[in-house]
Amino acid sequence: MKSRLVVVLVCGLALVACGSDDEPSPGPVRVNPAPAGQPWATLAEWRLFADGRQAKPAERVVPFDVISPLWSDDTVKERYLYVPEGETIGYEDTARWKFPVGTILVKTFAYPIDARDLTLGRRLLETRLLVHEASGWTAHTYVFDETESSTSYTIAGATLEAAWIDEAGESRTHAYKVPDLNQCAQCHGLSAPDTLGGVTRQLDRDNDYGGGSKNQLDHFAELGLLPGLPPASERERLTSPTGSAAVTLRARSYLDANCAHCHAEGGQAAQSGLLLGWLSTAVGPNVNWGVCKVPTSAGGATCGLSHDIVPGEPDKSVLVCRMESRVPSIQMPTLGTGLVDHAGVAVIREWIAGLEPTGCQ
Ligand code: HEC
Ligand code: HEC
Repeated sequence: MKSRLVVVLVCGLALVACGSDDEPSPGPVRVNPAPAGQPWATLAEWRLFADGRQAKPAERVVPFDVISPLWSDDTVKERYLYVPEGETIGYEDTARWKFPVGTILVKTFAYPIDARDLTLGRRLLETRLLVHEASGWTAHTYVFDETESSTSYTIAGATLEAAWIDEAGESRTHAYKVPDLNQCAQCHGLSAPDTLGGVTRQLDRDNDYGGGSKNQLDHFAELGLLPGLPPASERERLTSPTGSAAVTLRARSYLDANCAHCHAEGGQAAQSGLLLGWLSTAVGPNVNWGVCKVPTSAGGATCGLSHDIVPGEPDKSVLVCRMESRVPSIQMPTLGTGLVDHAGVAVIREWIAGLEPTGCQ
């Protein structure tokens, strides 16, 4: 056990020196995909990064960011995509992009040491992978140990005690929960898991690839990954929920990223009839947001209120109450969070408060 730990540590710190036989060292770090159905025991073996702290991605591993992020208990996230040489991504206007077999999508979760100054560093928690195999996407996660120098493949989830300073300068602690692998599908797709952030409306934003900020889609196209990219004027995109756009757009963007993977046709909450996706809310004023909708939920989960949204009345809206709860049977989202997203709630409150009061029957 002891000697195995040492090996893992050395690999984490000096990955190149641990490369397999077919990779002469030192040189560019190349991704080392696992055989289908047999994920590696540690993250290091995938060779997605040149170093254990993930400061430098390997060859063909491209960083990206989303416009409207999923709230995950105040963590910061880093995202990457790897598309094998010679393969390209199938662009879609509104549907999920068609990533080729061999694609690896990567998302690392961390707590900032101090959210007011991200240059002070972060405490790495877990790195999640979605790997596109010939038979479909597989979901994996690797949890960092306390020294953050090695990872282990984790099927049943984990709880990590974390401490950080938040944007308001408050010292915070939280028992961060790594989901179990069955939970991935509850958001990423019950019958066939797939990407969630890999859609034009989430990715059509700027990022810093060195040498100033640049549109991510243009960058992917320049790398030869995204043929057939239409001009920016023809692309539909979300807006940052905490930005300065009209509150309706900020609210819709928030709900699309945080709720719509369940609250859409085919999602886990479809039967409730409450559809919260950008696309389902695109037509007509307030069509599917739950304005004056009587909740279908059985006892308790309505907070004693009668409608999902009462225009002009955030305090009378079930939607707000469930976002503000972290009682397991009430809270929304049901999964992936144990802390209320106060900034997100503020956007939804502002939007509902501004809806013209019509009264609900
Ligand atoms: C509560 C819902 C939820 C759960 C549970 C969840 N995800 Fe996600 N995941 C999302 C959303 C929404 C995004 C896109 C938005 C973002 O990245 O902020 C995403 C993004 C990702 C990405 C980046 C690529 C992409 O498709 O956008 C990876 C990789 C990923 N998830 C893997 C996993 C794995 C593996 C698990 C299980 C261990 C998991 N996720 C569990 C909702 C979830
Ligand atoms: C992981 C899946 C999942 C996510 C993500 C999720 N929900 Fe839900 N939601 C459900 C399920 C399942 C139900 C139906 C059962 C119930 O009411 O608890 C539901 C029901 C609801 C209801 C009652 C709807 C009705 O008319 O009966 C509201 C309101 C709601 N969710 C709001 C939200 C909001 C707002 C978000 C995002 C901040 C969200 N949910 C994210 C799974 C989810």
